[in-house]
Amino acid sequence: MSTARNSKTYAIVGGTSGMGFALAEQLVARGDRVLLGGRSRDKADAAVRKLGALATARTVDARDRASIAAFFQGFFQGSSQGHEGNGTLAGLFTPGSVNHSVSFREDTQEQAEAVFQAKFWGQYWTVHAALPYLAADASVVLMSGAASVRPIGAPAYAACNAAVEGLARALALELAPIRVNCVSPGTIDSELWRNKPPEVYHAVGQAWQKLTLNRRLGTVQEAAGAALFLLDNGNMNGASIYVDGGYALR
Ligand SMILES: NC(=O)c1ccc[n+]([C@@H]2O[C@H](COP(=O)([O-])OP(=O)(O)OC[C@H]3O[C@@H](n4cnc5c(N)ncnc54)[C@H](OP(=O)(O)O)[C@@H]3O)[C@@H](O)[C@H]2O)c1
Repeated sequence: MSTARNSKTYAIVGGTSGMGFALAEQLVARGDRVLLGGRSRDKADAAVRKLGALATARTVDARDRASIAAFFQGFFQGSSQGHEGNGTLAGLFTPGSVNHSVSFREDTQEQAEAVFQAKFWGQYWTVHAALPYLAADASVVLMSGAASVRPIGAPAYAACNAAVEGLARALALELAPIRVNCVSPGTIDSELWRNKPPEVYHAVGQAWQKLTLNRRLGTVQEAAGAALFLLDNGNMNGASIYVDGGYALR
């Protein structure tokens, strides 16, 4: 009896670096195809060069509904950028956003609302735009952050993460049998921090050691492993997984 497994296609909006890219590596390693999205064409091209023929990438800005719609339409209607979309998406992961660490007193309206625009509304409308392309038994994994349950200031960011986790539960109810779950990481050693000035990156690492039980930053592979588990495990639905080294317990 053959044990060959059919290759599936997964979309990762925010898949050109960090946790999204790490998930793409894990999917490609087992023979699945990935459609990656990010704002930068250069980052998208570099990601595809690293991943090889099972990957394709399109630019997208998750803050812009027209851009999200064009992202999926372009792939499924065929593009000149690589292999064309065929069939349906087995899964969707949506880490395409940034962090926000401004205190309540110092926040501006523009900054505070921008985090919701990117991280909450970005994921909300990305799932909406993906619906026509998701398989009937597809799995959606949203990106939150453990500040949802243990804020350290930055209330707009904490509230946004809590809203994303609520969104996952409500979407799970409405979209079944499509499953919707959420990954909620602690501080992860990704490009998000590595691209900051060295003193900022160092200070974040030092602070995190005191905040978490593991006394180290999480890795992108660990966070991506949690997303992969949620994509694959057919009995996970409406859940948020805290990949945070015990941060939320302290
Ligand atoms: N790293 C952490 O410590 C941590 C902890 C908790 C939660 N998170 C959350 O995890 C997510 C990703 O973080 P990461 O650490 O993996 O960061 P990362 O390495 O910076 O990756 C972010 C990815 O999203 C893309 N992106 C950013 N803004 C986008 C937008 N508006 N539209 C489309 N794509 C966009 C980036 O590409 P472009 O720059 O080219 O757009 C990149 O592919 C963020 O939502 C963040 O809030 C991170």
